[in-house]
Amino acid sequence: MSYQNILVEKRDRIAVLTVNRPQVLNALNAATLEEIGAAIRELGEDDGVGVVIVTGAGEKAFVAGADIAELAAMTAISARRTSLRGQEIFASIENLGKPVIAAVNGYALGGGCELALACTMRVASEKAKIGLPEVTLGIIPGYAGTQRLARLVGKGRAFEIMLTGKPVDAAEAHRIGLVNRVVPAEELMSACTAIANLILANGPIAVRFALDSVNHGLETTLEEGSRLEATFFGLISATEDMHEGLNAFLEKRKPVFKNR
Ligand code: COA
Repeated sequence: MSYQNILVEKRDRIAVLTVNRPQVLNALNAATLEEIGAAIRELGEDDGVGVVIVTGAGEKAFVAGADIAELAAMTAISARRTSLRGQEIFASIENLGKPVIAAVNGYALGGGCELALACTMRVASEKAKIGLPEVTLGIIPGYAGTQRLARLVGKGRAFEIMLTGKPVDAAEAHRIGLVNRVVPAEELMSACTAIANLILANGPIAVRFALDSVNHGLETTLEEGSRLEATFFGLISATEDMHEGLNAFLEKRKPVFKNR
Protein backbone atom coordinates (compact mmCIF):
# COMPACT_ATOMS: atom_id res chain seq x y z
CA MET A 1 0.00 0.00 0.00
CA SER A 2 1.27 3.54 -0.66
CA TYR A 3 0.98 6.31 1.91
CA GLN A 4 1.23 10.10 1.73
CA ASN A 5 1.89 10.97 5.36
CA ILE A 6 3.87 8.03 6.69
CA LEU A 7 6.79 5.89 5.55
CA VAL A 8 6.94 2.14 6.11
CA GLU A 9 10.24 0.30 5.66
CA LYS A 10 10.82 -3.36 6.38
CA ARG A 11 14.20 -4.97 7.01
CA ASP A 12 15.10 -8.26 8.71
CA ARG A 13 11.64 -8.78 10.27
CA ILE A 14 11.61 -5.23 11.69
CA ALA A 15 9.23 -2.65 10.22
CA VAL A 16 9.86 1.04 10.82
CA LEU A 17 6.78 3.25 10.60
CA THR A 18 7.78 6.92 10.36
CA VAL A 19 5.21 9.68 10.69
CA ASN A 20 6.35 11.95 7.89
CA ARG A 21 4.99 15.49 8.14
CA PRO A 22 8.08 17.27 9.48
CA GLN A 23 6.83 20.68 8.31
CA VAL A 24 4.17 20.51 11.07
CA LEU A 25 6.31 18.47 13.49
CA ASN A 26 4.49 15.30 12.38
CA ALA A 27 1.13 16.48 13.73
CA LEU A 28 -1.58 13.86 13.30
CA ASN A 29 -4.33 15.02 10.99
CA ALA A 30 -7.18 12.60 10.25
CA ALA A 31 -5.53 11.33 7.06
CA THR A 32 -2.29 10.52 8.89
CA LEU A 33 -4.15 8.76 11.67
CA GLU A 34 -6.01 6.62 9.12
CA GLU A 35 -2.75 5.78 7.36
CA ILE A 36 -1.22 4.69 10.68
CA GLY A 37 -4.28 2.48 11.25
CA ALA A 38 -4.03 0.93 7.77
CA ALA A 39 -0.27 0.36 8.09
CA ILE A 40 -0.64 -1.26 11.51
CA ARG A 41 -3.31 -3.60 10.10
CA GLU A 42 -1.02 -4.46 7.17
CA LEU A 43 1.99 -5.07 9.45
CA GLY A 44 -0.14 -7.20 11.77
CA GLU A 45 -1.03 -9.48 8.86
CA ASP A 46 2.54 -9.66 7.53
CA ASP A 47 4.17 -12.85 8.87
CA GLY A 48 7.53 -11.49 7.75
CA VAL A 49 7.31 -8.74 10.39
CA GLY A 50 7.96 -9.56 14.05
CA VAL A 51 8.51 -6.12 15.61
CA VAL A 52 7.41 -2.62 14.61
CA ILE A 53 9.30 0.57 15.48
CA VAL A 54 7.32 3.84 15.34
CA THR A 55 9.14 7.16 15.03
CA GLY A 56 8.84 10.68 13.60
CA ALA A 57 10.57 12.27 10.60
CA GLY A 58 13.10 15.05 11.11
CA GLU A 59 15.32 16.08 13.98
CA LYS A 60 12.78 17.80 16.15
CA ALA A 61 9.64 15.80 16.74
CA PHE A 62 8.25 12.35 17.26
CA VAL A 63 4.69 13.70 16.90
CA ALA A 64 3.71 17.17 18.20
CA GLY A 65 0.09 16.20 18.73
CA ALA A 66 -3.18 16.09 16.89
CA ASP A 67 -3.31 18.64 14.08
CA ILE A 68 -4.48 21.80 15.84
CA ALA A 69 -5.79 23.28 12.57
CA GLU A 70 -8.24 20.36 12.29
CA LEU A 71 -9.16 20.49 15.99
CA ALA A 72 -10.23 24.11 15.57
CA ALA A 73 -13.08 23.07 13.24
CA MET A 74 -14.58 20.43 15.57
CA THR A 75 -18.19 20.17 16.71
CA ALA A 76 -19.36 18.11 19.72
CA ILE A 77 -20.36 15.26 17.43
CA SER A 78 -17.29 15.29 15.19
CA ALA A 79 -14.95 15.67 18.18
CA ARG A 80 -16.41 12.57 19.84
CA ARG A 81 -16.15 10.64 16.58
CA THR A 82 -12.52 11.78 16.14
CA SER A 83 -11.68 10.74 19.69
CA LEU A 84 -13.27 7.29 19.31
CA ARG A 85 -11.53 6.71 15.99
CA GLY A 86 -8.13 7.70 17.36
CA GLN A 87 -8.69 5.47 20.39
CA GLU A 88 -9.61 2.56 18.11
CA ILE A 89 -6.47 2.99 15.98
CA PHE A 90 -4.20 3.33 19.01
CA ALA A 91 -5.85 0.26 20.59
CA SER A 92 -4.96 -1.64 17.39
CA ILE A 93 -1.31 -0.75 18.09
CA GLU A 94 -1.54 -1.92 21.70
CA ASN A 95 -3.25 -5.16 20.64
CA LEU A 96 -1.25 -5.84 17.49
CA GLY A 97 0.09 -9.12 18.92
CA LYS A 98 3.62 -8.00 18.00
CA PRO A 99 5.77 -5.63 20.03
CA VAL A 100 5.67 -2.01 18.89
CA ILE A 101 8.58 0.13 20.09
CA ALA A 102 8.20 3.92 20.13
CA ALA A 103 11.49 5.57 19.18
CA VAL A 104 10.76 8.97 20.71
CA ASN A 105 13.12 11.23 18.79
CA GLY A 106 11.86 14.64 19.98
CA TYR A 107 8.56 16.28 20.97
CA ALA A 108 5.90 13.68 21.83
CA LEU A 109 3.03 15.92 22.81
CA GLY A 110 -0.71 15.33 23.03
CA GLY A 111 -1.59 12.71 20.40
CA GLY A 112 2.16 12.04 20.04
CA CYS A 113 2.43 11.14 23.71
CA GLU A 114 -0.73 9.04 23.34
CA LEU A 115 0.75 7.26 20.32
CA ALA A 116 3.90 6.46 22.33
CA LEU A 117 1.75 5.28 25.26
CA ALA A 118 -0.13 2.84 23.00
CA CYS A 119 3.19 1.25 22.04
CA THR A 120 4.54 -1.76 23.91
CA MET A 121 7.58 0.17 25.15
CA ARG A 122 9.26 3.52 24.67
CA VAL A 123 12.89 4.43 24.04
CA ALA A 124 13.67 8.15 24.15
CA SER A 125 16.43 10.25 22.69
CA GLU A 126 18.04 12.68 25.15
CA LYS A 127 16.23 15.42 23.19
CA ALA A 128 12.74 14.02 23.80
CA LYS A 129 10.07 16.06 25.53
CA ILE A 130 6.90 14.23 26.43
CA GLY A 131 3.64 15.67 27.64
CA LEU A 132 -0.09 16.16 27.39
CA PRO A 133 -0.50 19.93 26.84
CA GLU A 134 -4.18 19.73 25.80
CA VAL A 135 -5.45 21.75 28.77
CA THR A 136 -3.31 24.68 27.62
CA LEU A 137 -5.52 24.68 24.50
CA GLY A 138 -8.73 24.35 26.53
CA ILE A 139 -9.27 20.70 25.54
CA ILE A 140 -8.44 17.33 27.09
CA PRO A 141 -6.50 14.34 25.72
CA GLY A 142 -8.77 12.30 23.44
CA TYR A 143 -6.75 9.29 22.30
CA ALA A 144 -6.84 7.50 25.68
CA GLY A 145 -3.96 9.51 27.16
CA THR A 146 -5.83 10.12 30.41
CA GLN A 147 -6.17 6.36 30.78
CA ARG A 148 -2.83 5.01 29.58
CA LEU A 149 -0.62 7.66 31.21
CA ALA A 150 -2.27 7.14 34.60
CA ARG A 151 -1.97 3.37 34.27
CA LEU A 152 1.71 3.63 33.31
CA VAL A 153 3.09 6.21 35.76
CA GLY A 154 0.32 6.38 38.41
CA LYS A 155 -2.46 8.88 38.96
CA GLY A 156 -0.50 11.56 40.80
CA ARG A 157 2.28 11.86 38.23
CA ALA A 158 -0.19 11.64 35.35
CA PHE A 159 -2.27 14.44 36.88
CA GLU A 160 0.82 16.65 37.23
CA ILE A 161 1.67 16.15 33.55
CA MET A 162 -1.86 16.57 32.17
CA LEU A 163 -3.07 19.35 34.49
CA THR A 164 0.00 21.57 34.23
CA GLY A 165 0.38 20.82 30.52
CA LYS A 166 4.16 20.98 31.05
CA PRO A 167 6.12 18.30 29.19
CA VAL A 168 8.78 16.27 30.99
CA ASP A 169 12.29 15.90 29.59
CA ALA A 170 13.81 12.52 28.78
CA ALA A 171 15.56 12.10 32.14
CA GLU A 172 12.36 12.80 34.09
CA ALA A 173 10.36 10.55 31.75
CA HIS A 174 12.83 7.79 32.53
CA ARG A 175 12.75 8.46 36.27
CA ILE A 176 8.97 8.07 36.44
CA GLY A 177 8.84 5.02 34.15
CA LEU A 178 7.25 6.81 31.22
CA VAL A 179 10.09 5.62 28.96
CA ASN A 180 12.10 2.40 29.27
CA ARG A 181 15.45 3.97 28.51
CA VAL A 182 17.15 7.13 27.27
CA VAL A 183 19.93 7.15 24.69
CA PRO A 184 21.86 9.80 22.71
CA ALA A 185 19.87 10.94 19.65
CA GLU A 186 22.25 9.32 17.18
CA GLU A 187 21.88 5.94 18.92
CA LEU A 188 18.09 5.91 19.10
CA MET A 189 17.33 3.68 16.12
CA SER A 190 20.19 1.28 16.85
CA ALA A 191 19.02 0.96 20.48
CA CYS A 192 15.47 0.17 19.31
CA THR A 193 16.78 -2.29 16.71
CA ALA A 194 18.88 -4.03 19.39
CA ILE A 195 15.79 -4.51 21.61
CA ALA A 196 13.81 -5.68 18.57
CA ASN A 197 16.49 -8.26 17.73
CA LEU A 198 16.50 -9.64 21.28
CA ILE A 199 12.73 -10.12 21.01
CA LEU A 200 12.97 -11.61 17.51
CA ALA A 201 15.26 -14.36 18.79
CA ASN A 202 12.43 -15.62 21.02
CA GLY A 203 9.40 -17.78 20.28
CA PRO A 204 6.96 -15.55 18.36
CA ILE A 205 3.88 -17.27 19.75
CA ALA A 206 5.26 -16.93 23.28
CA VAL A 207 5.89 -13.23 22.66
CA ARG A 208 2.33 -12.81 21.39
CA PHE A 209 0.79 -14.67 24.34
CA ALA A 210 2.86 -12.69 26.85
CA LEU A 211 1.66 -9.45 25.24
CA ASP A 212 -1.97 -10.59 25.29
CA SER A 213 -1.72 -11.92 28.83
CA VAL A 214 -0.45 -8.59 30.17
CA ASN A 215 -2.67 -6.36 28.02
CA HIS A 216 -5.90 -8.21 28.72
CA GLY A 217 -5.05 -9.50 32.19
CA LEU A 218 -4.22 -6.08 33.61
CA GLU A 219 -7.71 -4.84 32.78
CA THR A 220 -9.30 -7.51 34.99
CA THR A 221 -8.70 -8.71 38.55
CA LEU A 222 -5.46 -10.45 39.61
CA GLU A 223 -7.39 -13.71 39.86
CA GLU A 224 -8.94 -13.44 36.38
CA GLY A 225 -5.66 -12.22 34.88
CA SER A 226 -3.83 -15.16 36.42
CA ARG A 227 -6.41 -17.59 34.99
CA LEU A 228 -5.92 -16.00 31.58
CA GLU A 229 -2.17 -16.51 31.98
CA ALA A 230 -2.76 -20.18 32.85
CA THR A 231 -4.91 -20.60 29.74
CA PHE A 232 -2.15 -19.15 27.54
CA PHE A 233 0.37 -21.32 29.39
CA GLY A 234 -1.72 -24.38 28.56
CA LEU A 235 -2.26 -23.29 24.97
CA ILE A 236 1.44 -22.76 24.33
CA SER A 237 2.17 -26.36 25.25
CA ALA A 238 0.28 -27.35 22.09
CA THR A 239 2.80 -25.52 19.87
CA GLU A 240 5.78 -26.97 18.03
CA ASP A 241 7.79 -23.95 19.16
CA MET A 242 7.42 -24.93 22.83
CA HIS A 243 8.96 -28.34 22.19
CA GLU A 244 11.68 -26.76 20.07
CA GLY A 245 12.53 -24.18 22.77
CA LEU A 246 12.68 -26.70 25.61
CA ASN A 247 14.52 -29.37 23.59
CA ALA A 248 17.05 -26.85 22.29
CA PHE A 249 17.92 -25.93 25.89
CA LEU A 250 18.31 -29.58 26.91
CA GLU A 251 20.39 -30.31 23.79
CA LYS A 252 22.54 -27.18 24.42
CA ARG A 253 21.77 -25.59 21.05
CA LYS A 254 19.97 -22.48 19.80
CA PRO A 255 16.24 -22.96 19.13
CA VAL A 256 14.83 -22.54 15.64
CA PHE A 257 11.28 -21.25 16.11
CA LYS A 258 8.78 -21.68 13.31
CA ASN A 259 5.79 -19.70 14.59
CA ARG A 260 3.82 -22.94 14.82
N1 COA B 1 -0.75 20.86 14.93
C1 COA B 1 -0.57 21.58 13.82
N2 COA B 1 0.58 22.22 13.53
C2 COA B 1 1.59 22.10 14.41
C3 COA B 1 1.47 21.36 15.59
C4 COA B 1 0.23 20.71 15.85
N3 COA B 1 0.03 19.96 16.93
N4 COA B 1 2.63 21.45 16.28
C5 COA B 1 3.45 22.21 15.54
N5 COA B 1 2.83 22.61 14.41
C6 COA B 1 3.37 23.45 13.34
C7 COA B 1 3.49 24.91 13.78
O1 COA B 1 2.24 25.58 13.63
C8 COA B 1 4.55 25.41 12.83
O2 COA B 1 3.96 25.68 11.57
P1 COA B 1 4.38 27.04 10.76
O3 COA B 1 5.82 26.79 10.40
O4 COA B 1 3.46 27.02 9.59
O5 COA B 1 4.18 28.15 11.70
C9 COA B 1 5.46 24.20 12.65
O6 COA B 1 4.69 23.06 13.06
C10 COA B 1 6.70 24.27 13.52
O7 COA B 1 6.30 24.48 14.85
P2 COA B 1 6.81 25.69 15.77
O8 COA B 1 5.75 25.96 16.80
O9 COA B 1 7.22 26.84 14.92
O10 COA B 1 8.10 25.03 16.43
P3 COA B 1 8.76 25.41 17.83
O11 COA B 1 10.06 24.72 17.86
O12 COA B 1 8.74 26.88 18.04
O13 COA B 1 7.79 24.79 18.95
C11 COA B 1 6.40 23.05 19.90
C12 COA B 1 7.63 23.38 19.04
C13 COA B 1 6.19 21.55 19.85
C14 COA B 1 6.66 23.49 21.35
C15 COA B 1 5.18 23.82 19.35
O14 COA B 1 5.09 23.57 17.95
C16 COA B 1 3.87 23.40 19.97
O15 COA B 1 3.58 23.79 21.09
N6 COA B 1 3.05 22.62 19.24
C17 COA B 1 1.74 22.20 19.70
C18 COA B 1 1.85 21.12 20.74
C19 COA B 1 0.48 20.75 21.26
O16 COA B 1 -0.19 21.51 21.94
N7 COA B 1 0.05 19.52 20.96
C20 COA B 1 -1.18 18.98 21.44
C21 COA B 1 -2.24 19.16 20.42
S1 COA B 1 -3.75 18.44 20.99
